[in-house]
Amino acid sequence: MSKRFLITTAIDYANGSPHIGHAYEKILTDVIARYKRLSGVPVHFVTGLDEHGQKVQMSAQNKGVQPIEICDSLAVEFQTLCEKLNISNDDYIRTTETRHKNVVQSLLQKLYDEGKIYKADYNGFYSVRQEQFVTEKEKVDGAWPAIYGEVVEITESNYFFKLSEYQDWLIETIKSNESLIYPRFRSADVLNFLKEPLNDLCISRPKERLSWGIELPFDAGFVTYVWFDALVNYITAAGYGTEQFKEYWPADYHVIGKDILSPPHAVYWPIMLKALDIPLPQHYLVHGWWLSSGSKMSKSDGHVVNPLDLIDTFGADAFRYFVISEMNVGQDSDFSEELFQKRYNSHLANDLGNLVSRLLNMGHRFASGIIPKSEIEESEEKTVLKHWESLKAEVFGLYDSFQFHKALEKIFSFIAELNRYTELRAPWKLAKSEESIEQKRLSTTLATMSEGLRLASILLQPVMPEIAEKILNSLGQKSVELFADKLEWGDELAGSEFGEKSILFPKKEH
Ligand code: MSP
Repeated sequence: MSKRFLITTAIDYANGSPHIGHAYEKILTDVIARYKRLSGVPVHFVTGLDEHGQKVQMSAQNKGVQPIEICDSLAVEFQTLCEKLNISNDDYIRTTETRHKNVVQSLLQKLYDEGKIYKADYNGFYSVRQEQFVTEKEKVDGAWPAIYGEVVEITESNYFFKLSEYQDWLIETIKSNESLIYPRFRSADVLNFLKEPLNDLCISRPKERLSWGIELPFDAGFVTYVWFDALVNYITAAGYGTEQFKEYWPADYHVIGKDILSPPHAVYWPIMLKALDIPLPQHYLVHGWWLSSGSKMSKSDGHVVNPLDLIDTFGADAFRYFVISEMNVGQDSDFSEELFQKRYNSHLANDLGNLVSRLLNMGHRFASGIIPKSEIEESEEKTVLKHWESLKAEVFGLYDSFQFHKALEKIFSFIAELNRYTELRAPWKLAKSEESIEQKRLSTTLATMSEGLRLASILLQPVMPEIAEKILNSLGQKSVELFADKLEWGDELAGSEFGEKSILFPKKEH
């Protein structure tokens, strides 16, 4: 059984509607999954929903409904987002599913039996209004902010996981495995965090405070709390406890945002796996944040971008193109609708959209709707071909190193080259001449434009699957399933029919 390339996103909290951050992470992961599949790698791509916890329980209480009702309706919202964005996930895991509860409980029991989980008193500050523990860090000017209401010091019995025993092992593991975390500079954050002694991790909440969770198998008075539930989704979805697990695990990439690398993914998760004798994920791909005017998007100030609105207006591929071309994976990026619109009009509608519509137009007018054969090769064609060869030589290196924004830049500079070439050849002028050389040039121009667009579309497939397919269809082709053998410049299109003229990216005004 050959190992699959397992790639996961974080699972989204079921405490609010999806926003651009959720959409981006799924698109980024989808681009990698599609790229790998096109490269011939068998892929398993998982995303999902993180459903338990205090916030969900409280919002259900406030609305007078059961927590699962809230989760069910958010699951529909998040899954609709995936569908609308053309996300090619193979599985969607919800932490309320029986398959997940079973895995969490079996792991907890195992760790408890081995003495790696123990019961002890937990002492801390508790906000009665928010029904949660708060720490000194939450204080503003030495006082608890009003949203916490009365804060009291309480002692509560809870279960703890022996995190601290593994601190030295983890430091060594991170130091000796330079490719574990991408981008590398994020490892430094984790190692910094590990300079302070680790406390054991409190993994439970008494049921009278939090009932919306997975019950501890060895004490029905408690549920497990947040990370011990959420992180385990990765191995549940990989089929932990079944034959399939060997085929899927370890994950090749956990794709996550920078806020949840340390401590959850880079400290708790590796230690949990080590304690369970399960191999660690191969890599973390840690992306930056989408900001709004330089600050974190927050619901309270209305700065939340609803991806569904943009997708409805501009189409999924335009949205996918924008987030992938604007974000240098690992860095933060600022979102503005003006920029979105500008990119849409210039790169997509003008550069790509016009090229396609010009070609189809001329193909019907000057070549009876049939893609002609290239008949000569002059310096104009040689320049295009040279540009293609250098793009082909570079683009895979960029895809492999997650420099998707640069890969798109290069592909679009090739598209600009095709536009330049079209202007230079001016087929509308060539068509007026009856001289044989001019007729040959006309056929060659239409063939070169078609071939260039075919190749560019194939390279765009991971990012813009729908648009790539439309362009390929309009050249009488289907989307490809494998890159191999499809990226040679040639004349395989000759004789195919041009499709009907259509507008790929209708211009949008402010
Ligand atoms: N439920 C946890 C993750 C558990 S994974 C075992 C969680 N959920 S979340 O809904 O808050 O975030 C889901 C993902 O979206 C995280 O990777 C997070 O970093 C990412 N983003 C949330 N807001 C974001 C932006 N504004 N920009 C980019 N990504 C951000 O954390």
